Amino acid sequence: MLKGRLLAIAKEVPPSKCIADIGTDHGLVPVWLIENGIVQKAIITDISSKSLAKAEGLIKQRGLESKIEARTGDGLKPIKPGEVDTVIMAGMGGMLIRNILTDAPCVAEKVKRFVLQPMTAQSALRKWLVENGYAIVDETLVREDSRFYEIIVATHGSQRIYNEVYYDIGYMLIKKNDPLLKEFIKQKIDKTNNIIHHLERQNTENSINAAEEFRRKLLQYKEVYQWVLRLNKS
Ligand SMILES: C[S@@+](CC[C@H](N)C(=O)[O-])C[C@H]1O[C@@H](n2cnc3c(N)ncnc32)[C@H](O)[C@@H]1O
Repeated sequence: MLKGRLLAIAKEVPPSKCIADIGTDHGLVPVWLIENGIVQKAIITDISSKSLAKAEGLIKQRGLESKIEARTGDGLKPIKPGEVDTVIMAGMGGMLIRNILTDAPCVAEKVKRFVLQPMTAQSALRKWLVENGYAIVDETLVREDSRFYEIIVATHGSQRIYNEVYYDIGYMLIKKNDPLLKEFIKQKIDKTNNIIHHLERQNTENSINAAEEFRRKLLQYKEVYQWVLRLNKS
């Protein structure tokens, strides 16, 4: 039933008593986790009652009303402190995920594992996590058509980032030599080159400074690309 991005997210959830899927929408991930015996109970939330109704329809259809509880609300606010071991937040912007973590500190501090799949601002989210008492313990890349999705798994803890390129290309992706890493970096290099060409055409003071910053990033990406090529030759 699950595949691609959603399956990769579900696979990052360890056997748990109770998990929460925040911004669940369709509810496919918690249903899969319950039906595969990975979690005993799930709480699903969504800020939109219309979205949550989709998940509730699926839960009813699968007869899982006793195992999956739906709550309408903002971020982690519908969850009580200590109620869940693992939190999934997927398909939302990175800054929204950051705000959700900041807005409910009493709930967030009791959660053991966060499975995050930001659609945007992935680098900013990694930086925020590392600077705010979280450690990134795993990462996975998924590609659907030409789009890459970055799944970031975090726990409470401390972590040192030795090179700021690891905010753009997760260190764990390099450490585990993710099968999609080479193509992911190649796409990053191509996109950065396009941005630089676009900025160079504008020729304003701001665009000149921005182009300089992107050239610096490009060099870092190319360096990591070379490491990955070497890693795959040895
Ligand atoms: C694009 S869907 C992602 C659905 C699913 N998690 C996935 O990854 O496929 C984003 C969902 O997040 C919900 N959402 C947005 N802001 C939210 C918030 N502050 N708290 C809870 N849910 C939110 C939206 O209503 C929407 O259903």
